Amino acid sequence: MSMRLFKLINTASVVLCSFVLQPVYGHDGDKAHSHGVRAVKPAEMYQPTPNPDRIILTWAGDPKTTQAVTWRTSTEVTVGFAELAIAGGGPDFAVLSETYQATSTALKTDINTAHFHSVQFKGLKPGTKYAYRVGDKTNWSEWFHFSTEKDSAEPFSFIYFGDAQNDIRSMWSRVIREAHSDAPKAKFIIHAGDLINHAQSDAEWGEWFGAGAWLNAMIPSVPSVGNHEMQKGEDGKSHLSHHWRPQFTLPQEDCPHGLEETCYTLQYQDTLIVSMNSNEMLEQQVEWLDGVLSKNKLRWVVLNFHHPIFSTAKDRDNAKLRRLWKPILDKHRVDLVLQGHDHSYGRTGLETPIATPETIGNVPTGVNQVDMFTGTVYVVSVSGPKMYNLSPSPLMQRVAEDTQLYQIIHIDGDQLHYEARNAIGDLYDGFVLEKQPGKPNRMTEVSPEVPERRRLEKSPKKEASAVPAAVAK
Ligand SMILES: [Fe+2]
Repeated sequence: MSMRLFKLINTASVVLCSFVLQPVYGHDGDKAHSHGVRAVKPAEMYQPTPNPDRIILTWAGDPKTTQAVTWRTSTEVTVGFAELAIAGGGPDFAVLSETYQATSTALKTDINTAHFHSVQFKGLKPGTKYAYRVGDKTNWSEWFHFSTEKDSAEPFSFIYFGDAQNDIRSMWSRVIREAHSDAPKAKFIIHAGDLINHAQSDAEWGEWFGAGAWLNAMIPSVPSVGNHEMQKGEDGKSHLSHHWRPQFTLPQEDCPHGLEETCYTLQYQDTLIVSMNSNEMLEQQVEWLDGVLSKNKLRWVVLNFHHPIFSTAKDRDNAKLRRLWKPILDKHRVDLVLQGHDHSYGRTGLETPIATPETIGNVPTGVNQVDMFTGTVYVVSVSGPKMYNLSPSPLMQRVAEDTQLYQIIHIDGDQLHYEARNAIGDLYDGFVLEKQPGKPNRMTEVSPEVPERRRLEKSPKKEASAVPAAVAK
Protein backbone atom coordinates (compact mmCIF):
# COMPACT_ATOMS: atom_id res chain seq x y z
CA MET A 1 0.00 0.00 0.00
CA SER A 2 1.35 3.38 -0.95
CA MET A 3 1.85 5.91 1.80
CA ARG A 4 -0.66 8.20 0.10
CA LEU A 5 -3.36 5.47 -0.02
CA PHE A 6 -2.62 4.56 3.63
CA LYS A 7 -3.09 8.20 4.68
CA LEU A 8 -6.32 8.41 2.71
CA ILE A 9 -7.77 5.26 4.36
CA ASN A 10 -6.54 6.38 7.75
CA THR A 11 -8.12 9.80 7.36
CA ALA A 12 -11.36 8.24 6.16
CA SER A 13 -11.51 5.92 9.19
CA VAL A 14 -10.93 8.83 11.56
CA VAL A 15 -13.76 10.73 9.89
CA LEU A 16 -15.95 7.61 10.04
CA CYS A 17 -15.14 7.04 13.72
CA SER A 18 -15.81 10.70 14.46
CA PHE A 19 -19.16 10.36 12.82
CA VAL A 20 -20.10 7.08 14.55
CA LEU A 21 -19.00 8.20 18.01
CA GLN A 22 -20.39 11.70 17.70
CA PRO A 23 -22.31 12.26 20.96
CA VAL A 24 -25.84 13.55 20.67
CA TYR A 25 -25.99 16.92 22.35
CA GLY A 26 -29.23 18.78 22.56
CA HIS A 27 -31.37 20.95 24.71
CA ASP A 28 -34.08 18.37 24.57
CA GLY A 29 -33.57 15.38 26.86
CA ASP A 30 -35.85 13.31 24.62
CA LYS A 31 -33.14 13.15 21.98
CA ALA A 32 -31.27 10.65 24.11
CA HIS A 33 -34.35 8.40 24.15
CA SER A 34 -34.83 8.72 20.42
CA HIS A 35 -31.25 7.50 20.09
CA GLY A 36 -32.47 4.09 21.18
CA VAL A 37 -30.58 3.66 24.48
CA ARG A 38 -32.70 1.90 27.05
CA ALA A 39 -33.04 3.22 30.60
CA VAL A 40 -31.44 0.90 33.16
CA LYS A 41 -34.15 -0.14 35.60
CA PRO A 42 -33.51 0.09 39.38
CA ALA A 43 -33.99 -3.66 39.77
CA GLU A 44 -31.05 -4.20 37.41
CA MET A 45 -28.90 -1.35 38.70
CA TYR A 46 -29.22 -2.37 42.34
CA GLN A 47 -29.28 -6.14 41.89
CA PRO A 48 -27.18 -7.81 44.58
CA THR A 49 -24.48 -10.24 43.41
CA PRO A 50 -22.15 -12.61 45.28
CA ASN A 51 -19.63 -9.75 45.19
CA PRO A 52 -19.92 -7.64 48.37
CA ASP A 53 -21.34 -4.14 48.04
CA ARG A 54 -22.85 -1.47 50.35
CA ILE A 55 -19.88 -1.96 52.69
CA ILE A 56 -20.12 0.38 55.64
CA LEU A 57 -18.29 0.91 58.93
CA THR A 58 -20.20 1.76 62.10
CA TRP A 59 -19.58 1.26 65.79
CA ALA A 60 -21.49 -0.92 68.21
CA GLY A 61 -18.76 -0.69 70.85
CA ASP A 62 -15.69 1.23 71.96
CA PRO A 63 -13.90 2.94 69.02
CA LYS A 64 -10.58 2.23 70.76
CA THR A 65 -10.96 -1.55 70.59
CA THR A 66 -13.87 -2.40 68.25
CA GLN A 67 -15.10 -1.73 64.76
CA ALA A 68 -18.24 -3.03 63.04
CA VAL A 69 -18.64 -3.60 59.30
CA THR A 70 -21.79 -4.49 57.37
CA TRP A 71 -22.19 -5.41 53.71
CA ARG A 72 -24.64 -6.86 51.19
CA THR A 73 -24.56 -9.81 48.82
CA SER A 74 -27.01 -11.86 46.83
CA THR A 75 -28.71 -14.75 48.61
CA GLU A 76 -26.23 -17.18 47.02
CA VAL A 77 -23.82 -16.16 49.77
CA THR A 78 -25.12 -17.83 52.89
CA VAL A 79 -22.03 -17.35 55.06
CA GLY A 80 -20.03 -14.13 55.05
CA PHE A 81 -16.50 -13.61 56.29
CA ALA A 82 -14.24 -10.68 57.06
CA GLU A 83 -10.46 -10.81 57.20
CA LEU A 84 -8.57 -8.36 59.40
CA ALA A 85 -4.89 -7.55 59.75
CA ILE A 86 -2.76 -4.71 61.02
CA ALA A 87 -2.15 -2.67 57.86
CA GLY A 88 1.37 -2.49 56.50
CA GLY A 89 3.23 -0.46 53.92
CA GLY A 90 3.83 -3.52 51.78
CA PRO A 91 1.46 -6.17 50.45
CA ASP A 92 2.57 -8.84 52.94
CA PHE A 93 0.32 -7.55 55.76
CA ALA A 94 -2.46 -9.95 54.74
CA VAL A 95 -0.41 -13.02 55.69
CA LEU A 96 -1.20 -12.36 59.34
CA SER A 97 -4.91 -11.73 58.87
CA GLU A 98 -7.55 -13.19 61.15
CA THR A 99 -10.90 -14.43 59.84
CA TYR A 100 -14.23 -13.45 61.40
CA GLN A 101 -17.52 -15.12 60.51
CA ALA A 102 -20.45 -12.78 59.93
CA THR A 103 -23.97 -12.79 61.27
CA SER A 104 -26.23 -12.77 58.22
CA THR A 105 -29.78 -11.53 57.70
CA ALA A 106 -32.05 -11.93 54.67
CA LEU A 107 -33.90 -8.82 53.55
CA LYS A 108 -36.73 -8.86 51.03
CA THR A 109 -37.07 -5.41 49.51
CA ASP A 110 -39.34 -3.86 46.90
CA ILE A 111 -37.02 -4.95 44.06
CA ASN A 112 -34.94 -7.89 45.29
CA THR A 113 -33.95 -10.16 48.15
CA ALA A 114 -30.45 -9.83 49.56
CA HIS A 115 -28.31 -11.03 52.41
CA PHE A 116 -26.75 -8.47 54.75
CA HIS A 117 -23.69 -9.57 56.70
CA SER A 118 -22.36 -8.03 59.88
CA VAL A 119 -19.06 -8.48 61.70
CA GLN A 120 -17.75 -6.83 64.83
CA PHE A 121 -13.98 -6.73 65.15
CA LYS A 122 -13.13 -6.84 68.84
CA GLY A 123 -10.03 -6.77 71.01
CA LEU A 124 -8.31 -4.28 68.70
CA LYS A 125 -5.27 -2.20 69.65
CA PRO A 126 -5.99 1.52 70.17
CA GLY A 127 -4.40 3.98 67.77
CA THR A 128 -3.73 1.32 65.13
CA LYS A 129 -4.35 1.26 61.39
CA TYR A 130 -6.03 -1.96 60.31
CA ALA A 131 -6.81 -3.42 56.88
CA TYR A 132 -9.86 -5.57 56.26
CA ARG A 133 -11.83 -7.13 53.45
CA VAL A 134 -15.20 -8.85 53.32
CA GLY A 135 -16.51 -11.68 51.19
CA ASP A 136 -17.34 -15.37 51.08
CA LYS A 137 -13.84 -16.85 50.55
CA THR A 138 -14.46 -16.91 46.79
CA ASN A 139 -15.46 -13.32 46.12
CA TRP A 140 -13.66 -10.69 48.16
CA SER A 141 -13.89 -6.92 48.37
CA GLU A 142 -10.71 -4.89 48.08
CA TRP A 143 -8.78 -4.26 51.31
CA PHE A 144 -9.92 -1.17 53.17
CA HIS A 145 -8.24 0.72 56.01
CA PHE A 146 -9.65 2.02 59.27
CA SER A 147 -7.92 3.30 62.39
CA THR A 148 -8.90 2.70 65.98
CA GLU A 149 -9.14 5.64 68.35
CA LYS A 150 -5.97 6.52 70.25
CA ASP A 151 -6.03 5.92 73.98
CA SER A 152 -4.20 9.22 74.52
CA ALA A 153 -5.60 12.69 73.83
CA GLU A 154 -5.68 13.63 70.17
CA PRO A 155 -7.50 16.44 68.31
CA PHE A 156 -10.00 15.07 65.80
CA SER A 157 -12.60 16.10 63.23
CA PHE A 158 -15.92 14.71 62.17
CA ILE A 159 -18.43 15.50 59.42
CA TYR A 160 -22.14 16.23 59.86
CA PHE A 161 -24.81 16.17 57.17
CA GLY A 162 -28.42 17.30 57.25
CA ASP A 163 -30.92 15.47 55.02
CA ALA A 164 -29.57 13.87 51.84
CA GLN A 165 -32.99 12.42 50.95
CA ASN A 166 -33.61 13.26 47.26
CA ASP A 167 -31.74 12.83 43.99
CA ILE A 168 -29.07 11.23 46.11
CA ARG A 169 -26.99 9.76 43.31
CA SER A 170 -27.30 12.77 41.07
CA MET A 171 -27.03 15.68 43.51
CA TRP A 172 -25.97 14.52 46.97
CA SER A 173 -22.91 12.48 45.94
CA ARG A 174 -21.00 15.70 45.16
CA VAL A 175 -21.57 16.95 48.71
CA ILE A 176 -20.27 13.89 50.53
CA ARG A 177 -17.28 13.76 48.19
CA GLU A 178 -16.55 17.48 48.64
CA ALA A 179 -16.78 17.00 52.41
CA HIS A 180 -14.36 14.11 52.27
CA SER A 181 -11.87 16.03 50.15
CA ASP A 182 -12.06 18.81 52.75
CA ALA A 183 -11.70 16.55 55.79
CA PRO A 184 -10.12 13.30 54.56
CA LYS A 185 -8.97 12.39 58.07
CA ALA A 186 -12.43 12.83 59.64
CA LYS A 187 -13.00 10.12 62.24
CA PHE A 188 -16.71 9.64 61.59
CA ILE A 189 -19.71 11.01 59.70
CA ILE A 190 -22.96 12.01 61.43
CA HIS A 191 -26.12 11.80 59.33
CA ALA A 192 -28.98 13.66 61.00
CA GLY A 193 -31.78 11.59 59.44
CA ASP A 194 -33.67 11.44 56.14
CA LEU A 195 -30.82 9.74 54.38
CA ILE A 196 -33.37 8.64 51.76
CA ASN A 197 -36.91 9.64 50.76
CA HIS A 198 -38.85 6.36 50.87
CA ALA A 199 -38.03 4.13 53.82
CA GLN A 200 -38.43 0.85 51.94
CA SER A 201 -37.00 1.84 48.54
CA ASP A 202 -33.99 -0.37 47.88
CA ALA A 203 -33.01 1.77 44.88
CA GLU A 204 -32.80 4.87 47.09
CA TRP A 205 -30.67 3.03 49.63
CA GLY A 206 -28.58 1.87 46.65
CA GLU A 207 -28.14 5.49 45.62
CA TRP A 208 -27.11 6.45 49.15
CA PHE A 209 -24.51 3.69 49.38
CA GLY A 210 -23.29 4.48 45.86
CA ALA A 211 -22.79 8.16 46.70
CA GLY A 212 -20.65 7.36 49.74
CA ALA A 213 -19.06 4.38 47.96
CA TRP A 214 -15.66 3.44 49.43
CA LEU A 215 -15.75 6.36 51.89
CA ASN A 216 -18.36 4.41 53.86
CA ALA A 217 -15.96 1.49 54.11
CA MET A 218 -13.16 3.69 55.47
CA ILE A 219 -14.88 6.27 57.74
CA PRO A 220 -17.49 5.05 60.26
CA SER A 221 -21.03 6.42 59.93
CA VAL A 222 -23.16 7.59 62.86
CA PRO A 223 -26.71 7.75 61.48
CA SER A 224 -29.86 8.95 63.19
CA VAL A 225 -33.40 8.17 62.03
CA GLY A 226 -35.51 10.73 60.18
CA ASN A 227 -39.21 10.63 59.42
CA HIS A 228 -38.38 9.32 55.94
CA GLU A 229 -36.75 6.25 57.46
CA MET A 230 -40.16 5.50 58.95
CA GLN A 231 -43.17 4.13 57.08
CA LYS A 232 -46.74 3.45 58.07
CA GLY A 233 -47.55 -0.24 58.28
CA GLU A 234 -50.84 -2.05 57.81
CA ASP A 235 -51.42 -1.61 61.54
CA GLY A 236 -51.55 2.16 60.99
CA LYS A 237 -48.39 2.68 63.04
CA SER A 238 -45.09 4.07 61.83
CA HIS A 239 -42.29 1.51 61.56
CA LEU A 240 -38.56 1.78 61.02
CA SER A 241 -37.28 1.09 57.49
CA HIS A 242 -36.72 -2.65 56.99
CA HIS A 243 -33.24 -1.76 55.72
CA TRP A 244 -32.04 0.08 58.82
CA ARG A 245 -31.08 -2.69 61.20
CA PRO A 246 -29.74 -5.22 58.65
CA GLN A 247 -27.52 -2.61 56.96
CA PHE A 248 -26.18 -0.68 59.98
CA THR A 249 -24.51 -2.43 62.92
CA LEU A 250 -25.19 -0.04 65.81
CA PRO A 251 -25.46 -0.29 69.61
CA GLN A 252 -28.42 -2.37 70.81
CA GLU A 253 -27.90 -2.04 74.51
CA ASP A 254 -28.29 0.75 77.04
CA CYS A 255 -31.18 2.36 75.19
CA PRO A 256 -34.93 2.55 75.83
CA HIS A 257 -36.53 -0.79 74.92
CA GLY A 258 -37.84 -0.58 71.36
CA LEU A 259 -35.23 1.92 70.17
CA GLU A 260 -32.36 -0.51 69.61
CA GLU A 261 -29.94 0.84 66.98
CA THR A 262 -31.83 4.15 66.71
CA CYS A 263 -30.98 5.70 70.08
CA TYR A 264 -27.40 5.27 71.24
CA THR A 265 -24.22 6.92 72.43
CA LEU A 266 -20.68 7.03 71.17
CA GLN A 267 -17.66 8.14 73.15
CA TYR A 268 -14.79 9.48 71.08
CA GLN A 269 -11.85 11.10 72.81
CA ASP A 270 -13.26 13.64 75.28
CA THR A 271 -16.59 13.92 73.43
CA LEU A 272 -19.90 12.19 73.98
CA ILE A 273 -22.06 11.84 70.87
CA VAL A 274 -25.71 11.06 71.58
CA SER A 275 -27.79 9.97 68.60
CA MET A 276 -31.52 10.02 69.33
CA ASN A 277 -34.75 9.06 67.61
CA SER A 278 -37.00 12.13 67.34
CA ASN A 279 -39.75 10.18 65.54
CA GLU A 280 -41.17 8.05 68.34
CA MET A 281 -41.09 7.29 72.05
CA LEU A 282 -40.03 10.84 72.86
CA GLU A 283 -41.12 10.52 76.51
CA GLN A 284 -39.08 7.36 77.06
CA GLN A 285 -35.95 9.12 75.84
CA VAL A 286 -36.26 11.95 78.39
CA GLU A 287 -35.29 9.85 81.39
CA TRP A 288 -32.76 7.90 79.33
CA LEU A 289 -31.05 11.11 78.16
CA ASP A 290 -31.06 12.58 81.65
CA GLY A 291 -29.40 9.37 82.92
CA VAL A 292 -26.80 9.36 80.14
CA LEU A 293 -25.88 13.01 80.66
CA SER A 294 -25.88 12.73 84.46
CA LYS A 295 -23.26 9.95 84.24
CA ASN A 296 -21.21 11.69 81.59
CA LYS A 297 -17.70 12.80 82.52
CA LEU A 298 -16.57 13.79 79.04
CA ARG A 299 -15.83 17.43 78.25
CA TRP A 300 -17.96 17.90 75.12
CA VAL A 301 -21.51 16.72 74.45
CA VAL A 302 -22.90 16.69 70.91
CA LEU A 303 -26.46 15.54 70.23
CA ASN A 304 -27.80 14.56 66.84
CA PHE A 305 -31.37 13.83 65.88
CA HIS A 306 -33.66 14.70 63.02
CA HIS A 307 -36.44 17.09 64.05
CA PRO A 308 -35.21 20.52 65.17
CA ILE A 309 -35.78 21.85 68.67
CA PHE A 310 -35.96 25.24 66.94
CA SER A 311 -37.25 25.00 63.40
CA THR A 312 -36.20 27.34 60.61
CA ALA A 313 -39.82 27.58 59.44
CA LYS A 314 -42.82 28.80 61.46
CA ASP A 315 -45.13 26.06 60.19
CA ARG A 316 -42.70 23.27 61.09
CA ASP A 317 -42.46 23.79 64.84
CA ASN A 318 -41.80 20.74 67.02
CA ALA A 319 -43.28 22.07 70.27
CA LYS A 320 -43.67 18.66 71.91
CA LEU A 321 -40.06 17.71 71.24
CA ARG A 322 -38.85 21.03 72.62
CA ARG A 323 -41.08 20.76 75.68
CA LEU A 324 -39.83 17.26 76.47
CA TRP A 325 -36.16 17.34 75.55
CA LYS A 326 -34.93 20.90 75.88
CA PRO A 327 -35.10 21.03 79.70
CA ILE A 328 -32.66 18.10 79.79
CA LEU A 329 -30.38 19.82 77.30
CA ASP A 330 -30.51 22.97 79.41
CA LYS A 331 -29.91 21.09 82.64
CA HIS A 332 -26.74 19.47 81.32
CA ARG A 333 -25.59 22.39 79.18
CA VAL A 334 -25.26 20.33 76.03
CA ASP A 335 -22.72 22.01 73.75
CA LEU A 336 -24.03 21.38 70.26
CA VAL A 337 -27.25 19.99 68.75
CA LEU A 338 -27.09 18.81 65.13
CA GLN A 339 -30.41 18.42 63.32
CA GLY A 340 -32.07 18.28 59.88
CA HIS A 341 -35.61 18.02 58.52
CA ASP A 342 -36.26 21.64 57.48
CA HIS A 343 -34.33 21.67 54.18
CA SER A 344 -32.70 25.00 54.92
CA TYR A 345 -29.93 26.20 57.24
CA GLY A 346 -30.19 27.91 60.60
CA ARG A 347 -27.76 28.27 63.49
CA THR A 348 -28.42 29.89 66.83
CA GLY A 349 -25.98 32.09 68.69
CA LEU A 350 -25.38 32.69 72.35
CA GLU A 351 -26.46 36.30 72.50
CA THR A 352 -30.15 35.64 72.14
CA PRO A 353 -32.19 34.08 74.94
CA ILE A 354 -33.99 31.22 73.24
CA ALA A 355 -35.86 29.65 76.07
CA THR A 356 -39.60 29.68 75.54
CA PRO A 357 -42.36 29.86 78.17
CA GLU A 358 -42.83 26.13 78.04
CA THR A 359 -39.14 25.29 78.44
CA ILE A 360 -38.73 27.79 81.23
CA GLY A 361 -41.62 26.12 82.98
CA ASN A 362 -39.88 22.77 82.75
CA VAL A 363 -36.37 23.75 83.72
CA PRO A 364 -35.65 22.59 87.27
CA THR A 365 -35.15 25.34 89.83
CA GLY A 366 -31.65 26.68 89.99
CA VAL A 367 -30.77 25.89 86.41
CA ASN A 368 -30.15 28.82 84.11
CA GLN A 369 -33.10 29.07 81.87
CA VAL A 370 -31.89 30.70 78.72
CA ASP A 371 -29.37 29.49 76.23
CA MET A 372 -27.13 32.50 76.63
CA PHE A 373 -26.40 30.88 80.00
CA THR A 374 -26.48 27.23 78.98
CA GLY A 375 -24.32 27.85 75.92
CA THR A 376 -26.09 25.32 73.72
CA VAL A 377 -25.81 25.93 69.96
CA TYR A 378 -28.54 24.48 67.73
CA VAL A 379 -27.95 23.80 64.04
CA VAL A 380 -30.39 22.80 61.29
CA SER A 381 -28.76 21.88 58.00
CA VAL A 382 -29.43 20.20 54.66
CA SER A 383 -27.03 18.38 52.34
CA GLY A 384 -29.37 17.15 49.60
CA PRO A 385 -31.08 19.20 46.87
CA LYS A 386 -34.61 19.48 48.29
CA MET A 387 -35.04 23.07 49.50
CA TYR A 388 -37.74 24.71 51.58
CA ASN A 389 -38.16 28.38 52.33
CA LEU A 390 -37.45 29.51 55.86
CA SER A 391 -39.15 32.01 58.10
CA PRO A 392 -36.91 34.72 59.51
CA SER A 393 -36.32 34.06 63.19
CA PRO A 394 -34.38 36.21 65.67
CA LEU A 395 -33.01 32.98 67.17
CA MET A 396 -30.97 32.19 64.09
CA GLN A 397 -27.69 34.05 63.75
CA ARG A 398 -26.97 32.66 60.30
CA VAL A 399 -29.42 31.14 57.83
CA ALA A 400 -29.47 29.85 54.25
CA GLU A 401 -31.98 28.87 51.63
CA ASP A 402 -31.34 26.92 48.43
CA THR A 403 -27.89 25.83 49.59
CA GLN A 404 -26.49 22.31 49.96
CA LEU A 405 -24.12 22.19 52.92
CA TYR A 406 -21.76 19.95 54.83
CA GLN A 407 -20.26 20.65 58.23
CA ILE A 408 -16.82 19.86 59.60
CA ILE A 409 -16.40 19.95 63.36
CA HIS A 410 -12.95 19.87 64.88
CA ILE A 411 -12.39 19.29 68.60
CA ASP A 412 -9.08 20.07 70.22
CA GLY A 413 -8.99 20.10 74.02
CA ASP A 414 -11.08 23.05 75.24
CA GLN A 415 -11.91 24.29 71.74
CA LEU A 416 -14.52 23.21 69.24
CA HIS A 417 -14.23 24.62 65.71
CA TYR A 418 -17.34 24.45 63.57
CA GLU A 419 -17.50 25.08 59.81
CA ALA A 420 -20.49 24.86 57.49
CA ARG A 421 -19.43 24.82 53.85
CA ASN A 422 -21.57 24.85 50.75
CA ALA A 423 -21.43 22.19 48.04
CA ILE A 424 -18.48 23.87 46.34
CA GLY A 425 -16.52 24.17 49.57
CA ASP A 426 -17.04 27.87 50.38
CA LEU A 427 -17.13 28.67 54.10
CA TYR A 428 -20.78 29.56 54.72
CA ASP A 429 -20.78 29.71 58.50
CA GLY A 430 -18.28 29.18 61.26
CA PHE A 431 -17.68 29.62 64.96
CA VAL A 432 -15.40 28.52 67.73
CA LEU A 433 -16.62 27.37 71.14
CA GLU A 434 -14.29 27.50 74.06
CA LYS A 435 -14.80 25.84 77.43
CA GLN A 436 -14.75 28.16 80.42
CA PRO A 437 -14.67 26.62 83.89
CA GLY A 438 -18.04 26.99 85.62
CA LYS A 439 -19.48 29.12 82.81
CA PRO A 440 -21.18 28.58 79.46
CA ASN A 441 -18.93 28.18 76.45
CA ARG A 442 -17.47 31.30 74.91
CA MET A 443 -18.49 31.64 71.28
CA THR A 444 -16.49 33.45 68.63
CA GLU A 445 -18.06 33.72 65.21
CA VAL A 446 -15.88 33.31 62.12
CA SER A 447 -16.41 35.60 59.13
CA PRO A 448 -17.93 33.60 56.29
CA GLU A 449 -16.55 33.71 52.75
CA VAL A 450 -19.93 34.17 51.07
CA PRO A 451 -22.95 36.39 51.78
CA GLU A 452 -26.07 34.97 53.34
CA ARG A 453 -28.16 33.22 50.71
CA ARG A 454 -31.89 33.94 50.82
CA ARG A 455 -34.64 33.59 48.29
CA LEU A 456 -35.92 36.74 46.67
CA GLU A 457 -39.16 37.99 48.16
CA LYS A 458 -42.02 36.34 46.35
CA SER A 459 -45.75 36.34 46.56
CA PRO A 460 -47.10 33.49 48.75
CA LYS A 461 -48.43 31.75 45.66
CA LYS A 462 -45.09 31.79 43.89
CA GLU A 463 -43.26 30.87 47.10
CA ALA A 464 -45.28 27.70 47.40
CA SER A 465 -44.16 26.64 43.95
CA ALA A 466 -40.50 27.39 44.73
CA VAL A 467 -40.04 23.79 45.88
CA PRO A 468 -39.50 21.76 42.71
CA ALA A 469 -42.37 19.33 42.20
CA ALA A 470 -39.94 16.45 41.78
CA VAL A 471 -38.62 16.85 45.29
CA ALA A 472 -41.61 18.29 47.12
CA LYS A 473 -42.60 16.28 50.17
FE1 LIG B 1 -37.53 15.03 57.68
